[in-house]
Amino acid sequence: MSHDAPANKVSDVYSDSMVRNAREAERLNEQYHLLNQNIGYLLHPSITCRPEQAPEIADMGTGTGIFLSELSNSYPKATLHGFDISGDLFPPVENLPSNVTLSLMDIKETPPLEACNRYDIIHVRLISAAMNPEDWEPVVYNLQKLLKPGGALQWEECNFAQGRHYRGKAGCTISAAKSVGDAMRYGLKEKFAYGWSTLPEIMRSAGLIDVEEDIVSSDRVVETRESLSTNGMVAVFQWAKNVSARGMLGSIPAHDLTGFEEQAFKDIKSGCYVRFDIHIILGFKSK
Ligand SMILES: C[S@@+](CC[C@H](N)C(=O)[O-])C[C@H]1O[C@@H](n2cnc3c(N)ncnc32)[C@H](O)[C@@H]1O
Repeated sequence: MSHDAPANKVSDVYSDSMVRNAREAERLNEQYHLLNQNIGYLLHPSITCRPEQAPEIADMGTGTGIFLSELSNSYPKATLHGFDISGDLFPPVENLPSNVTLSLMDIKETPPLEACNRYDIIHVRLISAAMNPEDWEPVVYNLQKLLKPGGALQWEECNFAQGRHYRGKAGCTISAAKSVGDAMRYGLKEKFAYGWSTLPEIMRSAGLIDVEEDIVSSDRVVETRESLSTNGMVAVFQWAKNVSARGMLGSIPAHDLTGFEEQAFKDIKSGCYVRFDIHIILGFKSK
């Protein structure tokens, strides 16, 4: 069985830089687990909504719905709704837990009335590539409307703007991984500068209370370094090929990318790794 029809994609700026295909779905799921190992929880300890309360929980920009599929293990009685502007990364309905449904919704549009004041918890992770600087405020405003009084918004964004490739071993190589990583950071600098840095203030100005921020390093669990670096490099090359194919200004020509790609993964094998901060930001709708 499939999900409902595609949405109007006028505001789908995400697809200008990122791809949606089976390999990307696999990469997102792996990235999700690696980030979680470093974060150490699914829901921040300040969120006191318990499984026995059978809450309604939404995940916005859900991708493959992985957050809800994982959450369903500890919240089997909850109603779990995932929303995305595109269904291209959604798994087949029969692969989802029975309390998870995935549908189309553009978080930049005014939410439908039936979704307002409905959710105990709203979760968002890694939407920055979809956001122009001016989008953050109205999107937070839209999402707080979906919360029940007392409900919680939990949002995770990585500071890719200041991510760096490091030498993890004496004598390891780094230059291809660093060059192409820097190219993506530069190409998406307008998008990567916001969210992790602005969400606490935007949440407060949207009327959310008890706003707090937790920050962990992407290599808090040192054993995730190599896998997270390899996973990130797959995204970097998907982006580089996408913008190169479109002939976008400053992109690396396609014929240079192949050599770079081979060397960048060798760099990681030799000990080069990426590190960035993961920001978990939360706020509550007053009761
Ligand atoms: C980097 S993926 C993250 C997916 C998931 N949150 C995760 O952590 O694996 C970003 C997701 O946001 C979705 N997206 C982009 N623009 C959106 C919009 N305007 N409204 C809803 N979802 C959007 C994309 O289609 C994609 O699935």
